[in-house]
Amino acid sequence: MYFSNSLSIQVVHLSHSPVMVDLKIIKLSLIFFLIFSVKSSPPEDPIKCSHNTNFNCTITNSYGAFPDRAICKASEAIFPTTEEELISVVANAAREKRKMKIATRFSHSIPKLVCLDNDDQDQGLLISTKYLNKILRIDQENMSITVESGVTLRQLISEAGKAGLVLPYAPYWWGLTIGGLIGTGAHGSSLWGMGSSVHDYIMQLRIVTPADVSYNYAKVRILENGSSELNAARVSLGVLGVVSQVTLKLERVFKRSITLSERDDSNLGEDATTFGRQHEFADFTWYPSQRKVIYRIDDRVSPNTRGNALNDFLGFRSTPSLVLAILRTTEENQELTNDAGGKCSSAKLTTSTLKLGAYGLTNNGFTFTGYPVVGLHNRVQASGTCLDSLEDATITTCPWDHRVKGLFFHQTTFSISLSKVKGFIEDVQKLVVLEPKALCVLDLYNGILMRYVTTSNAYLGKQEDGLDFDITYYRSKDAMSPRLFEDILEEVEQLAFFKYGALPHWGKNRNVAFIGAITKYKNVDKFLKVKQSYDQLGLFSSEWTNQVLGLKEGLTILKEGCALEGLCICSEDIHCAPKKGYFCRPGRIYKDARVCTRLSSW
Ligand SMILES: *[C@@H]1O[C@H](CO)[C@@H](O)[C@H](O)[C@H]1NC(C)=O
Ligand SMILES: *[C@@H]1O[C@H](CO)[C@@H](O)[C@H](O)[C@H]1NC(C)=O
Ligand SMILES: *[C@@H]1O[C@H](CO)[C@@H](O)[C@H](O)[C@H]1NC(C)=O
Repeated sequence: MYFSNSLSIQVVHLSHSPVMVDLKIIKLSLIFFLIFSVKSSPPEDPIKCSHNTNFNCTITNSYGAFPDRAICKASEAIFPTTEEELISVVANAAREKRKMKIATRFSHSIPKLVCLDNDDQDQGLLISTKYLNKILRIDQENMSITVESGVTLRQLISEAGKAGLVLPYAPYWWGLTIGGLIGTGAHGSSLWGMGSSVHDYIMQLRIVTPADVSYNYAKVRILENGSSELNAARVSLGVLGVVSQVTLKLERVFKRSITLSERDDSNLGEDATTFGRQHEFADFTWYPSQRKVIYRIDDRVSPNTRGNALNDFLGFRSTPSLVLAILRTTEENQELTNDAGGKCSSAKLTTSTLKLGAYGLTNNGFTFTGYPVVGLHNRVQASGTCLDSLEDATITTCPWDHRVKGLFFHQTTFSISLSKVKGFIEDVQKLVVLEPKALCVLDLYNGILMRYVTTSNAYLGKQEDGLDFDITYYRSKDAMSPRLFEDILEEVEQLAFFKYGALPHWGKNRNVAFIGAITKYKNVDKFLKVKQSYDQLGLFSSEWTNQVLGLKEGLTILKEGCALEGLCICSEDIHCAPKKGYFCRPGRIYKDARVCTRLSSW
């Protein structure tokens, strides 16, 4: 999850269920493990090569599956440790006209940004930023930090914090690299200051691009704030070259006062347009089928306000693999038996457990005694203790670790401009009136996270101030299996992208989200011009990036069952699962939508 962020919030769910186990025991053990935060194994390295070599490699993402479930291969993986090494890697590959893709330590992007094309897998190269992980400079006077692109958000927050400095807005999940999160436009939540996107805090960026023989085949380009080339390189999807270093503008550390307040969702459409102007770190967590929303009332307070709060978000903690397996089995059984009621009971249990645990917030680092929770920004802005290592993944791990039977999901993530967000929210509410239990399926993943995003100079950044919706939902291990309320989830996805003109999160989503997306960016021509001048041969481009950038057809893959995985919008029943009772039909309230509907008469 370039969990915006970017990784959004995954939460372990508890469940009532067809599974014959003592739920009290599961619940207690889950709470026990969540609260007494057990150490886990670090997430797997996403690159695997032929034993003890760097050759004949495969790469995946942290979920172990791309939207089309492709297996991505490369002839070689290289792990440069300095900018000089990186230059020589790019130069050698450019001289040999080998294709390159940039990989990171954790690989949280869902789409195939790290994949070489099938035809290039025999020759192509993965350049990993895993060891480009040094903090190079912290400038107290000018309040900035210079890091290599493989530095993680966790490292940056920690090292800057030691110097009394902070990045004001950032994704909530630690396990992202700076190169990866800026490259996909990851963000926090705010309409204030210079806004919530990390890429808008870049003062300088150094990027290594291919070059012709007169430059010895590679070139470091040093881009300063204000340059149009930087506006291309801020959010680059990795197609311009390899970012080697980034200098970010920081601020002096400050304190925040956080209150998470539960309300009913009757005024959410209206509030969504105004709440972000009222509170600096505002966001919402919405449970549409429960008609509830958690409003984050979150602002700066004076440094002498008492409190030493800590955020260790429950959904990003290590979880016993045994518990994960039971939870997943329960969900699979509910899906298999169309147990909507069971999903809604599980949903309530999950959200009430989270609420009881204050989502992982404590007032003093140990216990939660009530809101407001007051503490230093760098202790509350992000978390991810499941990244810590000690034990074996078969014991405890991140809830979505694909090495064990755990959470497996799709993520549909988009931003809608503030001027249209009310209409979208009200349309989702109309769907809930027609099908009250449908969106219980989201609450197992902690509902819909809604974060404020801001207009950016980045050519592939947000075009307007808006609200970003992170929607996480069940994905079957079997690509041909429809999900419970398939039709409603698809209708929400199509409403967002096609009725409300939403922009996709570049590091998340299924293929459907990217259909026509590039036409929503007014400066795409400028982006493509820079791409052409930095990488004339397209050595960093692939079929997928070309499709997303509107340079190639084939974003939609039409085949049996394609709509179930978001590889297409159905136009015939065969794109759904007619043998299982799912047929292609118009949406319930958005008649232009085409969704896979389960016909009860069938
Ligand atoms: C990689 O695969 C190729 C072709 O299958 C093979 O010839 C080569 O020996 C392999 N290299 C390593 C290091 O395993
Ligand atoms: C801070 O910025 C100014 C102006 O850009 C520069 O002259 C100065 O050297 C910088 N300070 C440090 C410590 O780098
Ligand atoms: C970049 O330049 C713009 C325009 O001059 C300015 O508003 C912004 O604060 C600068 N950003 C950084 C990170 O220095």
